[in-house]
Amino acid sequence: MTPDLMDAGVQRAQAATKTAANGKTESGGREAGFSRLAIPGEVDTTHGRILYLQDVCVSFDGFKAINNLSLDIAPGELRCIIGPNGAGKTTMMDIITGKTRPDSGTVFFGSTIDLLRYKEAEIAQMGIGRKFQKPTVFEQLTVFENLELALKTNKGVVPSMVFRLNSTQSDRLAEVLHTIVLSDNVNRLAGTLSHGQKQWLEIGMLLMQDPKLLLLDEPVAGMTDEETERTAELFLSLKGKHSLMVVEHDMSFIRAISGDGGVVTVLCDGAVLAQGSLDQVQADDKVIEVYLGR
Ligand SMILES: Nc1ncnc2c1ncn2[C@@H]1O[C@H](COP(=O)(O)OP(=O)(O)O)[C@@H](O)[C@H]1O
Ligand SMILES: [Mg+2]
Repeated sequence: MTPDLMDAGVQRAQAATKTAANGKTESGGREAGFSRLAIPGEVDTTHGRILYLQDVCVSFDGFKAINNLSLDIAPGELRCIIGPNGAGKTTMMDIITGKTRPDSGTVFFGSTIDLLRYKEAEIAQMGIGRKFQKPTVFEQLTVFENLELALKTNKGVVPSMVFRLNSTQSDRLAEVLHTIVLSDNVNRLAGTLSHGQKQWLEIGMLLMQDPKLLLLDEPVAGMTDEETERTAELFLSLKGKHSLMVVEHDMSFIRAISGDGGVVTVLCDGAVLAQGSLDQVQADDKVIEVYLGR
């Protein structure tokens, strides 16, 4: 691409981001179709953001679960989210992944993809992977088969009986097995794994699809201390290659994964209460009041 064309693209994207922030778009609003069709593998992060939420609101029966929430995440960042029960952490993930529609606000993936225009399955296809709290692996299948299946479900149309991994997929599977430290357990039935190993396997299944952004809701709940430590190492190894948003209550885990300049966002009553390094937010009076206690 010529520098001129690139410049023009950057300017368009800047204008788009600016107007999107007002809830309006150049071409007359969401209905008029501002954002281009999502092409898997293409997310424009030239403006330093992979995820961008602005003034998002959602009410359930008049109760504002998300209340003017604004937040953005940089490509490759590992963002920690903490906050009291009922703060809206899971609801925020529901909104990003298309499970819940906000009443108002802006939610962008990169600077060009308006996530509010897409369905849950389309958003997953675009490269936003989500890990719920409970592990949902196929217990009757082996570790290998679970990872293989993650590729198949991504392709959808491949009949399972004739599916064979190509060499790129085999390499990817071996790499993921290594990342989730289950290489020695490849032929074990998933049902016989420990709770922590099941959680890693499920993360592995997400990794098979090479997501750009991973949303992880309370990933170390119920893990042993040793499993929690290994999970911290795993997440640190994913940082940079993927962007991660991690919701957790375990503060020693948050300390481990947010060291080295990581940003911690504190949610309360559906909005950002404080943001900064873990030390900064832990010293914040408002945060101590509503979450950490005196
Ligand atoms: N589908 C829903 N219907 C009604 N209320 C909901 C729904 N989802 C969440 N809520 C409410 O919204 C608030 C935020 O919930 P949630 O996002 O689960 O908080 P967190 O994950 O931070 O603990 C809570 O008060 C919860 O009861
Ligand atoms: Mg929750």
